[in-house]
Amino acid sequence: MNNELVKVESLKKYFSLKSGLLGNNKKIVKAVDNISFSINKGETFGLVGESGCGKSTTGKMVLRLLEPTSGKVFFKGEELTSKSGKELLAIRPNLQMIFQNPYGSLDPKMTLKTILEEPLKIHGVNKNSREKRIKELLSYISFSSSYLDRHPGEFSGGQLQRIAIARSLALNPQFIVADEPVSALDVSIQAQILNLLIDLQKELELTYLFISHDLSVVQYVSDRVGVMYLGRMVELADCESLYNNPLHPYTRLLLSSVPIADPERASQRKKVEINKGSQQKTSNGCRFCSRCNEKLAICEEEVPELIEYSKGHFVSCHLYNKEHI
Ligand SMILES: Nc1ncnc2c1ncn2[C@@H]1O[C@H](COP(=O)(O)OP(=O)(O)OP(=O)(O)O)[C@@H](O)[C@H]1O
Ligand SMILES: [Mg+2]
Repeated sequence: MNNELVKVESLKKYFSLKSGLLGNNKKIVKAVDNISFSINKGETFGLVGESGCGKSTTGKMVLRLLEPTSGKVFFKGEELTSKSGKELLAIRPNLQMIFQNPYGSLDPKMTLKTILEEPLKIHGVNKNSREKRIKELLSYISFSSSYLDRHPGEFSGGQLQRIAIARSLALNPQFIVADEPVSALDVSIQAQILNLLIDLQKELELTYLFISHDLSVVQYVSDRVGVMYLGRMVELADCESLYNNPLHPYTRLLLSSVPIADPERASQRKKVEINKGSQQKTSNGCRFCSRCNEKLAICEEEVPELIEYSKGHFVSCHLYNKEHI
């Protein structure tokens, strides 16, 4: 049975930046450069990578909050990227986003009641049903109705992120993009919010695209993980395979910086040697090759394809292409 809820096909986003004194020099930033993946119903797909690698741009394109330069996004088999106007509006309630910074994403002048009520009003939900739904939303985040008249300034960061989560659930979505939902929070609060997201996923059969630069956070919540480097997907696998058997030199580099609590396992971990070269900006060849200690001659000339190295474990690296070894 096909369990695919979201499918992303050859998605690209190129930004054109003007530079120079008169703004007449154009520079193209390939923020997302030909990535494909799919997300199954009920799963959490983690997207990880360094700052600027294109995670948020991908998340926004998947929800059609940003127009792709090219490529397609499908939701339940229907092409989202070809929809507009009423058709897109009708599908919108199914697709929601939780942002990194709850301080910035909630209007400080609104009360908790108006924050939760707003999406329901926009979608024409009547007053009685709105009141009922607000009660349900409060129960999802274990809030008392005595909080309803409070403003965002009267809540802690963790509470604000709970409110942002409740608001994203107002219209009963099936798919949520959570973009760094805990990175603005104190470490002691992060686990509470992650556990809330996990509990809500089970209760409401939600599917998540979970974006983070923090590998331990991604490992905690994800079923499968995609690793991005400068706009490209360099590795994609189920969580266990990725963390126990990372293939791409970049994934190994990322993992080598995650602390391991168990001293025995920590001492077994191989040290990753890496060149200190800067991030490669050219589009020829592998974008990681200027930082890679294992590079082959081909790496500077040809972009490696994403190949299935073992079942469900994909990697984009010439080291795994038999022709070049
Ligand atoms: N509106 C824009 N105009 C021009 N360039 C942009 C725009 N939005 C993003 N970029 C560029 O696209 C690249 C990817 O940005 P993006 O925000 O998707 O990265 P990210 O992986 O989410 O990073 P972070 O971890 O810092 O949130 C960056 O080089 C960024 O500067
Ligand atoms: Mg981002």
